[in-house]
Amino acid sequence: CGIVGYIGKRDVAPLLLEGLQRLEYRGYDSAGVVVTSPKASGLKMVKAKGRVRDLEARVPKRFAGTTGIAHTRWATHGAPSDENAHPHLDAEGKVAVVHNGIIDNASDLRAKLTAEGVEFLSETDTEVLTHLIARSDADSLEEKVRQSLKLIEGTYGVAVLHADFPDRIVVARNGSPVVLGIGEKEMFVASDVAALVSHTRQIVTLDDGEMATIKADDFRTYTTSGTRTTAEPTTVEWEAESYDMGGHDTYMHKEISEQPDAVDRVLRGRIDDRFSTVHLGGLNLDAREARTIRRIKILGCGTSYHAGLIGAGLIESLARVPADAEPASEFRYRNPVVDPDTLYVAVSQSGETYDVLAAVQELKRKGARVLGVVNVVGSAIAREADGGMYVHAGPEVCVVSTKCFTNTVVAFALLALHLGRIRDLSVSDGKRIIEGLRKLPEQISEILESEAEIKKLADQYADAKSMMFIGRVRGYPVALEASLKLKEISYIHAEAYPASELKHGPLALIEPALPTVAIVPDDDLLEKNRAALEEIKARSGRILAVAHQEQEKADHTIVVPKNEPELDPILMGIPLQLLAYHTALSLGRDIDKPRNLAKSVTVE
Ligand code: G6P
Repeated sequence: CGIVGYIGKRDVAPLLLEGLQRLEYRGYDSAGVVVTSPKASGLKMVKAKGRVRDLEARVPKRFAGTTGIAHTRWATHGAPSDENAHPHLDAEGKVAVVHNGIIDNASDLRAKLTAEGVEFLSETDTEVLTHLIARSDADSLEEKVRQSLKLIEGTYGVAVLHADFPDRIVVARNGSPVVLGIGEKEMFVASDVAALVSHTRQIVTLDDGEMATIKADDFRTYTTSGTRTTAEPTTVEWEAESYDMGGHDTYMHKEISEQPDAVDRVLRGRIDDRFSTVHLGGLNLDAREARTIRRIKILGCGTSYHAGLIGAGLIESLARVPADAEPASEFRYRNPVVDPDTLYVAVSQSGETYDVLAAVQELKRKGARVLGVVNVVGSAIAREADGGMYVHAGPEVCVVSTKCFTNTVVAFALLALHLGRIRDLSVSDGKRIIEGLRKLPEQISEILESEAEIKKLADQYADAKSMMFIGRVRGYPVALEASLKLKEISYIHAEAYPASELKHGPLALIEPALPTVAIVPDDDLLEKNRAALEEIKARSGRILAVAHQEQEKADHTIVVPKNEPELDPILMGIPLQLLAYHTALSLGRDIDKPRNLAKSVTVE
């Protein structure tokens, strides 16, 4: 899941461990590190199941080196264990490999190598690559790696260290991120800039099919077929401090609290009061093209998919273009009809989620136009897309997404407004939405001030074994996201249903032990939503409403400030982030690193 490497003059093990700690947030179950130096004879390695601190405890006193690679693993092939942790060495202990991704033909290659007498020490797919490199008779490390990569099918972000070539690290990317960090007489490599920014902000992001050799004072990039590529370092905007906890107990709490500022950032510089519209310079879509769009299809996974659902609603209501959202993971497997008049929008915090990236690549192969709505600048999806918008949420460290979700929805509101004003949205409606957008940071701060009250409610509902979340039309994706948040961090079972569907099945579940969280905005559906509350109350169900005014039928109401009806979903989700947070806290959960989950899933 996480890769870090260093080559230079400094003592490498502490540097690599620090880098791994910075990647801890992505989720992992074991870790390992291997080091060497120009004068050393051979490689030294330590691995451990568990946390980076478990690995640190195992690092012996004499573990000096100035070159090394390290890894945090999230199990795919083989259970979490010391043996299955990366790096993987060959029998002679000369070649060390750390790998993110999945080698699809690993079992065939393993059988072939076993028949040739190779003994495997782990159950991982990665170990195959180690042996292939060790057995290659090419002269250079680059060529050994290149030949071996030719034999594998699947995805990889990979870093290789070889005892016979201690002056270099060779890395390659195909579907799983690899970023080089350019220092002064030292070089870094990582799968995520989070591991680099405390050392350097000059980075080079590899493309799929690209490889690189890093030496202490030099780097070069080339394709897997050996052709040199040009790679100009760029400067990362995010500062090392933005990865710190900043006085909060968890990253999730910090990120929830940052939302007023984050929303301010996604709006900054984009609003055009003169024409009651917004400027989105990166879309690469001129007015004439925008008018020819017949449909919009939004693709994302997890929380980003939910942001896309709200986004589709915003686009339909403001731009009057038929729009819908679908999990990218489903889309890519159902041989979808790719229509030239449809605009596709890929949504991803990390910009690296494999299912989304694969959907984008498939769409592009079929000639579709794809926009990206992405947080991480320069990430794979941002680069594959024909244009798009960055959501400027700043680094998000907690595995579950909060501020990026909110910013993504606001970004969709901007896109909807932009398309609306090119099509049929009136000046006055444009103005109304702009005023609404401007109010958001202030109103979010107002909601955050009621944290103590929400915490009390969370304590009251934390004993529930299961919870129901309901909402209607605009409120339904809010219910979906709130239920996902609760599941992810508290492990309480939760499901979300359109309030209108309650009577078609889930009403059978309602009883005092199953509380319902209801999204009840003050809009044209208010009476309909109230009727749903009555149905629940008649079955003695407990109700917590999120509404613009106290709800008589609810046991508790969280009252949120009112904005424009189109933008209300943005605000109604915020107290439910805090509800999930405090529920998980009162149950003693590891909030920033929920079990079995990873920040971004760069494998299939
Ligand atoms: C993982 C995370 C989710 C996230 C999803 C999509 O499953 O656990 O929190 O929503 O990936 O991530 P992305 O980076 O594409 O938004």
